[in-house]
Amino acid sequence: MTDPISSHRDGEVLVVVSNNPPVNALGQAVRAGLQREIAAGLADDAVKAIVIRCDGRTFFAGADITEFGKPPQGPSLPETLDAMEASDKPVVAAIHGTALGGGCEVALACHYRVAVPSAKLGLPEVKLGLIPGAAGTQRMPRLVGAEAALPLVVGGDPISAKKAESIGLVDAIVSEDNLEADAVAFARSKIDQPVPRASEGTKNEDGVRNPAIFDDFRRSQARKIRGFDAPNAAIEAVKAAGELPYAEGVKKERELFMKLMTGTQSAAMRHYFFAERAANKIDDVPADTPLIPINKVGIIGAGTMGGGIAMNFLSAGIAVTILEMQQDALDRGTKTMRRNYENTAKRGRMTDEAVEKAMGLLSPTLNYDELADCDLVIEAVYENMDVKKQVFAKLDEVVKQGAILASNTSYLNIDEIATATKRPGYVLGLHFFSPANVMKLLEIVRGKETRDDVLATCMKLAKTIGKVAAVSGVCPGFIGNRMLSPRQQQANALIMEGANYWDIDDVLLEFGFPMGPFQMGDLAGTDIGWHRDPSRIETIRDALCARGRFGQKAGKGYYDYDEARNRTPSDETKQIIADFAAKEGKPQREISKDEIRERLLYPMVNEGAKILDEKMAQRASDIDVVWINGYGWPLYTGGPMFWADTIGLKTVVEGLEKHDLPVSDLLRRKADAGEKFNR
Ligand code: 3HC
Repeated sequence: MTDPISSHRDGEVLVVVSNNPPVNALGQAVRAGLQREIAAGLADDAVKAIVIRCDGRTFFAGADITEFGKPPQGPSLPETLDAMEASDKPVVAAIHGTALGGGCEVALACHYRVAVPSAKLGLPEVKLGLIPGAAGTQRMPRLVGAEAALPLVVGGDPISAKKAESIGLVDAIVSEDNLEADAVAFARSKIDQPVPRASEGTKNEDGVRNPAIFDDFRRSQARKIRGFDAPNAAIEAVKAAGELPYAEGVKKERELFMKLMTGTQSAAMRHYFFAERAANKIDDVPADTPLIPINKVGIIGAGTMGGGIAMNFLSAGIAVTILEMQQDALDRGTKTMRRNYENTAKRGRMTDEAVEKAMGLLSPTLNYDELADCDLVIEAVYENMDVKKQVFAKLDEVVKQGAILASNTSYLNIDEIATATKRPGYVLGLHFFSPANVMKLLEIVRGKETRDDVLATCMKLAKTIGKVAAVSGVCPGFIGNRMLSPRQQQANALIMEGANYWDIDDVLLEFGFPMGPFQMGDLAGTDIGWHRDPSRIETIRDALCARGRFGQKAGKGYYDYDEARNRTPSDETKQIIADFAAKEGKPQREISKDEIRERLLYPMVNEGAKILDEKMAQRASDIDVVWINGYGWPLYTGGPMFWADTIGLKTVVEGLEKHDLPVSDLLRRKADAGEKFNR
């Protein structure tokens, strides 16, 4: 293996360069090389200052995550950085790309930081269930203050070079194309001056003067950090930076870091980091498959779904033609899109110019012919096979050859839809999740005839529009809804057997889901798909609708709602359920939360195993990606399949058997062999 670290001289400045593609992760060879070159620079009297920079697309993007969980190999990052910071010769970090995690900690241990305008800096360790582990939680508050450090360390989102400069994290912004020379000039200007060390900074005193900032920040993030261990540890570490001398603060950080590193949450979140990247790869489609250029997208249907889908492309600067059958529906859809953008602008998350730019890329039409020159058309019409087939036959007629035709169906057979066209190779499913401009998941459904270039193009496009993609084969409900179905069946069965419906929601909330199935029913409206005949009561939902319990919009559904839409269990609903169960001859019993949890979640794992066995998902981790991004499965458990691995597949099988629920062949085989879904 070639040495990733080299150095060269520019007069009295030593330039240390890392070349460790793709992201200059700080693996053992990088740490050893840095330590070696810096020691050489410090020992050489002719060297008066040091610049550290990286080749390739980015400054160090963090510790090498693939080394986590393996026996540590020296030198450690903290010891490498301490030796560097101790230098009396100025050391300057020259930053481009993303200085993240350990990379940001390298920059913090340098005496100065210069960055190009496009650079970003951040401490995203919390997103891996960790906190910074190379004194980042101690140097950062001392350099920029606890108040400015909290969002960086606890939130984990990177900030721009400009913002970093405004809080004192970056000393100078240099020209985009002249980083090394500008950094060398900066370093030269600091020769023979006393060096400022972040570890000796005093800005952290803001947290001592006003200790309320920590609890205030925790409260402000309560919803976001619910269930996660790392953000609370991060707050504790930043607080310690004000309360303890530096060396003790570092010790405290290490303790917190090691506890997180050996816990299940971080293992789960590291699994997810690699799962998301793996999901982007299709095993039998070569990475260099030529892509189809997508410059114009057609959307059929300007309702909530079509409009949301369109916004993804508009926001990414791709022109959209949106088609409706009636002028008023088209106008309504266009207006909603504009209002959504304007609301985003009002919240400061978009400029007015960006709103106009996005809306300027939209062409509303009532005429199919205007879709002729689209490179991709996505239909988001009514979920009915005949309707979909008609739409695809029409598209096949009017849209140019070589264009991709996609359905947003959530469960219909893509192969059957493709038969309505003479180009089945260009047909696939692009299943967006509502609200489509917000939800991260895009399930890409691969038909039996879908061409490689069509798939590869859509995978790339998903990234362009900021989605996380996972490929599913053709089966009812694909990966996501197929696994939702047994959970819903169990939820319905449980309330018929006497379980409290609020216990079912609470079990899922306690597990980490944002909401349970009955809350979801109320939010969506219990009357969706209702036959509108109050005398015809075939389900509990029919009975709720017959009493006007249509959900949140009516102030009552499964739950009663107050003005602020807070839910309370309803006696009327409980009676409705009891009466319905009695009518069906279902005996009632008390059902524990443990039974509820097992009966809701284990059948999902079982369905996941069937999906894997039938090769409807490429890998178990793809299933985790779908459920985390599309259905609110808590990230800190790693997704249903990783979670099942964590609790043991034998436990899942025993649980299913205990409740007389089916066990699939693959699940049983793996449990018997002591195997896991994820290696
Ligand atoms: N370690 C090991 N591999 C890494 C890595 C890391 N820190 N960061 C990225 N990679 C790998 C990815 O797995 C991917 O590999 P693949 O091509 O085989 O799938 C490859 O590098 C490219 O990554 P992306 O596909 O994510 O490339 P992007 O250009 O989309 O994004 C990035 C680049 C913004 C740097 C993104 O990769 C990222 O966010 N990386 C993680 C950053 C991070 O979390 N750093 C903190 C690490 S923990 C730490 O530093 C602890 C310290 O405090 C001690």
